[in-house]
Amino acid sequence: MKRLIIDCCIREKESGTKLLLDNYLKDTSGDNHYLNLMKLDLKPLNINDLKYRDECLINKKNDKIFDLAKDFVTYDEIVIAAPYWDLSFPSLLKVYFEHISVVGITFTYQESIPIGLAKAERMIYLSTCGGKIQEHLGYLYTKKLMEMFGIKKSYNFYIDSLDLDLNKRNSLLDEGIKNIKLQMQQLGLI
Ligand SMILES: Cc1cc2nc3c(=O)[nH]c(=O)nc-3n(C[C@H](O)[C@H](O)[C@H](O)COP(=O)(O)O)c2cc1C
Repeated sequence: MKRLIIDCCIREKESGTKLLLDNYLKDTSGDNHYLNLMKLDLKPLNINDLKYRDECLINKKNDKIFDLAKDFVTYDEIVIAAPYWDLSFPSLLKVYFEHISVVGITFTYQESIPIGLAKAERMIYLSTCGGKIQEHLGYLYTKKLMEMFGIKKSYNFYIDSLDLDLNKRNSLLDEGIKNIKLQMQQLGLI
């Protein structure tokens, strides 16, 4: 199993989402490739980037701007760890998505319908949230994007209500991590 771990846990060592990710990784075997988004110096695409990217695509020119997208399509499993921010996720993850959403690499069009080109069978989304979550909009958006890339199965695991009483944060995290481990075992993910 070749696995891409996309770490967008902005608070790094202090992050509850990172703790959830570390626990998941302890239970997995295989070929893990770790991508720390905080270390990549990613920038939102601007007009010049778009012009240059289109020029490269038209002229079939290889360039390092395609590296992240080319890498993304080679994995069997994609793991995304990102806290719940502003009803979605940190903008850094969206910037990463901008860099991997490339026609001809992660998806293509057939009669104007997007067809995914990624190899992965599944995406696992891990997060923690401050409030009580009714629907996880960050996950739902990401699931749709993964479908566009051809990744049909997605799983969402999160621990919520963490900021409601900070005295309970650690015990909620521990309990949540145990529950998620059980769910993952039942689903055959670990
Ligand atoms: C910038 C920012 C935005 C946030 N937005 C939300 C939100 O929309 N809904 C929510 O329930 N919690 C929100 N939170 C709280 C975090 O989801 C919560 O503290 C979470 O546990 C942080 O995860 P981490 O420990 O992995 O950083 C936000 C926190 C920050 C710093």
